[in-house]
Amino acid sequence: MLDNCFYQLDHLPLLGKEFVNEGINGNFRSPIPEIDNIRTTRTTKADTTFTNSKFIQDLKQKLSPNIHACFFRNDPYSLYDWHNDSVGNRKCVINYLLTDNIGSLTLFRKSVSRLNYKIVECPYTLYRPMLLNVELEHCVINNSSDYRYLLSVSLPDVNFEQAMDFFKSYQVF
Ligand SMILES: [Fe+2]
Repeated sequence: MLDNCFYQLDHLPLLGKEFVNEGINGNFRSPIPEIDNIRTTRTTKADTTFTNSKFIQDLKQKLSPNIHACFFRNDPYSLYDWHNDSVGNRKCVINYLLTDNIGSLTLFRKSVSRLNYKIVECPYTLYRPMLLNVELEHCVINNSSDYRYLLSVSLPDVNFEQAMDFFKSYQVF
């Protein structure tokens, strides 16, 4: 039922320390408030030079020219509520967790009956890329006293299954 939420990209390299430091020291912009129910950007994010990396340039050539990357930050003791990423036109993403916050959870859910859901946790490993199906509803809980940092690569033109097929045979240069 929830077997198409994530795919661990264990054959790809860990994120370089320079990008971890860039994320933690990033210039994060606050989300634009939602006014009159107009849906706007809802996350705190920052730009990254990872967009210029060989990996992203290679993906732009082989998968989609519209791929881009940014950092996200979750406040201490915060819940990023249930949502899918359709507002950001994101069908699937590659995420790298930059900080190991004890009490931090990323969950997917599917409804089984009114007020009841089946949930599954995304098993992030620090610095290791994870493909996520963000067309499914998900949330982030940061139940820790520290900020939680993430590098996120948006793959807007392919869905999760297409991206998973691509990465199963992807050769790291
Ligand atoms: Fe999301």
